Amino acid sequence: MRFHPESPDVDPAALSRLRFVAAFKKELYQLSAGNTAAYRADIATLFVPESAGNEREALREQMERQPYFRGWSSLMRSAQDLMWHHTGRAVQDSAERLATRFRSMSNQAKGAITLNPALEAPGYLVDVDVHRMPGGYAADTDDYDLYAGALYDLGGAVYQLGMSSGAGGLLNDARGRTLIAHLAERFPGFAPARILDMGCNVGHNTVPLAAAFPQAETVGIDIGAALLRYAHLRAEGLGVPVHFIQADAERTGFEDASFDLVVSQIVLHETTPQAAANIIRESRRLLRRGGVAVHLEIPFQASEGDTFQQFMWLWEQYYNAEPNIAGVVDGDLSGMAVAAGLEDVRIGYQDIPGADGASGFHARPRSAGSLSQWLIVSGRAS
Ligand SMILES: C[S@@+](CC[C@H](N)C(=O)[O-])C[C@H]1O[C@@H](n2cnc3c(N)ncnc32)[C@H](O)[C@@H]1O
Repeated sequence: MRFHPESPDVDPAALSRLRFVAAFKKELYQLSAGNTAAYRADIATLFVPESAGNEREALREQMERQPYFRGWSSLMRSAQDLMWHHTGRAVQDSAERLATRFRSMSNQAKGAITLNPALEAPGYLVDVDVHRMPGGYAADTDDYDLYAGALYDLGGAVYQLGMSSGAGGLLNDARGRTLIAHLAERFPGFAPARILDMGCNVGHNTVPLAAAFPQAETVGIDIGAALLRYAHLRAEGLGVPVHFIQADAERTGFEDASFDLVVSQIVLHETTPQAAANIIRESRRLLRRGGVAVHLEIPFQASEGDTFQQFMWLWEQYYNAEPNIAGVVDGDLSGMAVAAGLEDVRIGYQDIPGADGASGFHARPRSAGSLSQWLIVSGRAS
């Protein structure tokens, strides 16, 4: 089976292994309630941080001694490794076919791909394999390497299989659909002629944007060449024209005022606070007058959770190779957008549209870390 026309093949044996991983992950999400119970029973009443400001780190020390949390965290890591192991096997089995498809499609493509082998990936993307995905985002071995893209795509699909809320289905497109709902609500009638998706990865959430604005030229940029080759193949298979370009979102090299809509979707929390500010500033630089910038992020803001909630929101930072999540959880995205020169800036939570398309934008504070919403900061260039 394939979950879109150009996905890796998943035969029945592989599917059952992937379904097991998805079910295992889902069970673990549900068992996370046990961490709250353990915290309340063993730690909450006794917990006194040594000094103001170190609450999260002090709690981390306590939690790391707590048996339920240790066992649960260890299983979470095992489930993640199992996911990459089984997706990796399936992708290896399809690697030759994907490379052949990529070689043969270039002439008839509706979209395009432009790679820049001289581009240096920023340290925050190469110093760790983000999400512990083997090889990371920037891995690239030859001109027909699509491995990182296929691996991320299949891993994302497994992730979605195991999620009950906030899921984007096997196309993993909930963020793009949420962003489109946000545009319709905040900027009704907005019709961009040129769109840029910064940190597009395999285009999961670039494709829905391009499809929603078919009159526009849509460009997706990322640092990973193997991600972009796969993104190009995938978008062509889905029949949606996108131009994928290998570029750094902090300094894209595009001309000033050359886009009407510039977005990033769950990119900033995988960078550093300085890089996030640079990316938001770059989005403003690229906007034409009247253009819109939207930065969509994980729905966790430190100011809206107690120390225990914050600690759990940062689980992926501590134990799953996402070292910069706190930059967004503690950061001031709205302040960065204003400092970048965006106007009419608003920050809040946008509901992931349901089956009926209903969605709403809620000013903060509103989310308690709910995975049925995304955090969004948006503004205009005047
Ligand atoms: C979690 S993925 C998000 C993918 C996509 N935006 C989505 O929502 O489906 C983050 C992506 O951002 C990319 N990225 C991070 N920093 C970047 C930078 N400075 N320039 C280009 N891409 C970047 C990574 O390579 C990765 O593919």
